[in-house]
Amino acid sequence: CGIIGYVGDNPAIFVLLQGLERLEYRGYDSAGVALIEDEKLFVEKKVGKIRELVRSLWGKPLKGTVGIGHTRWATHGEPCEINAHPHTDMKGQFAVVHNGIIENYLELKQELTKQGVEFRSQTDTEVIAHLIALNYKGDLLEAVLSVLPKLKGAYAFVVLSSLEPYRIVGVRHGNPLVVGLGDGENFIASDIPALLPFTKKVIPLSDGEVADLRKDSVDIYDFEGNRVVKEVIEVPWDIISAEKGGFKHFMLKEIFEQPRTTADTIKGFISREYTLPVSLNEFRRVLITACGTSYHAGLVAKYWIEKYAKVPVEVVYASELRYSDNPINEKDLVLAISQSGETADTRFSALAAKEKGAFLVSVVNVVGSALDRESDYTLYTHAGPEIGVAATKTFTAQLAALYCLAVSQSPEREQLMAKLLSVTSLMEEILSRAEDIRKIALSYSSAKNMLYLGRYLSYPIALEGALKLKEISYIHAEGYPAGEMKHGPIALIDEKMPVFVIAPRDRTYEKILSNVEEVLARKGNVIAIGFEGDEHLRQKAKDVISIPHVEEDLSPFLTVIPTQLFAYYIADFLGLDVDQPRNLAKTVTVE
Ligand code: G6P
Repeated sequence: CGIIGYVGDNPAIFVLLQGLERLEYRGYDSAGVALIEDEKLFVEKKVGKIRELVRSLWGKPLKGTVGIGHTRWATHGEPCEINAHPHTDMKGQFAVVHNGIIENYLELKQELTKQGVEFRSQTDTEVIAHLIALNYKGDLLEAVLSVLPKLKGAYAFVVLSSLEPYRIVGVRHGNPLVVGLGDGENFIASDIPALLPFTKKVIPLSDGEVADLRKDSVDIYDFEGNRVVKEVIEVPWDIISAEKGGFKHFMLKEIFEQPRTTADTIKGFISREYTLPVSLNEFRRVLITACGTSYHAGLVAKYWIEKYAKVPVEVVYASELRYSDNPINEKDLVLAISQSGETADTRFSALAAKEKGAFLVSVVNVVGSALDRESDYTLYTHAGPEIGVAATKTFTAQLAALYCLAVSQSPEREQLMAKLLSVTSLMEEILSRAEDIRKIALSYSSAKNMLYLGRYLSYPIALEGALKLKEISYIHAEGYPAGEMKHGPIALIDEKMPVFVIAPRDRTYEKILSNVEEVLARKGNVIAIGFEGDEHLRQKAKDVISIPHVEEDLSPFLTVIPTQLFAYYIADFLGLDVDQPRNLAKTVTVE
């Protein structure tokens, strides 16, 4: 879900709608706004995308200069107007927008119902509005602070009241919230891109903090009401980077940005922006934890770290690590990888590991995000804001950061880094042939299932390719280590099951060619990624996507791009919502 809030002298509605449009990628089954209009609360909400809300506001002359807005991704209660945010108290004096989950809301709801409160929605959010209204004694901040001890769960919310029409109060407890500083106006949002049209000066709140915003002041408190002094961060992203810039979709633009974002990330290491206070081989193991695409970057990193730092590496899904008995201690370096730095599973498993004594290093894209602040050390990917829900440029930026980390203690570091930087021009070459990939992709757009195979460094790319296809085109796809195919998936192969084989000439090349034969023997159709001039592959596969020759180590930077484009072109051809695929959210702050 996404939150935006504004206090200033300008009509709030423009800020709210612009902000909501930029937050839509975080969840989008309904949206709403609340404003103070002539000292009364005005609320409008709609099911569907932001444009539905815009349509329903058409022609309403809204002048209010204080407001909050929300785009929702349903967790409690189906997506409908009643369940959309903002939620209000019974007298319509307080409006709340909320992300996350109030775990004890049923209990609270029962108590409130006994006190005569009538609930309108099935959401957990509505309890916050009623609680604040009941505890209000003339000061919004105090009312909010008095309610916080009652709420259990991970959440962020922002409240406004017609009784104090010049302030908004925001609370962060597990879900992101960032204050944006303006001149005679201030903002609050769940994510930086929503603030970029208005300001680059931000204060990311930490868990357990409350922000009291008025047009000329921002005061931050802890949950006990003590003032907290916060650093103002200047966001290194510009507004252009959060716009489509002539591309049909953000995802396509982000795929094409990869040579630059990869280079920017590598340059951070070449300029020795980082001095990791430890070396990887001081530890008995490196334990990588992450979710989704970031997890796949971790799987690639395992091979690199084992090769160059010679430390055993374990890669565990954050949602699995959290509830396992993995014996973590101070001899472990835990590497948490997260684009947003806010994914609940990743944060909480990383924090639990840190508590057990592990040294916590994170790789994040969002400076000032929770994981960034919670880690012992952070490596940044310089990918800029990623708006498409399906991660692309942040994956290759993560790979770049992880490679640099893996080779950081190697005697050949300088040469390896120089080679790494040169890979970005090869990425350009592949992108210049996007049209060929589009043609091949379209011939597979009617597939119902696909199998992606790879070995060694191409195995995680097979997983990532399959994930991209299912995320945005809704075609069922499985990624598999090619050598495991004979232990199960081979049973699925027939002429209707295209098999996408990732086969650069590396140490496993001969073996994967045998796997291709196994597919062909079962009448499967093979589409392969291989090096230019690879005649063996061309003779066997129905379609071949050629990539430039590259050293074994660096092949993932190249092989992943055709898989991204392949998924993109199919989804676009099918007329699907590429940037905002159904049911998915960019940042998942629920466990
Ligand atoms: C969501 C996104 C994925 C992303 C994953 C992990 O599921 O849709 O694209 O890979 O979260 O996100 P993170 O911000 O931790 O990298």
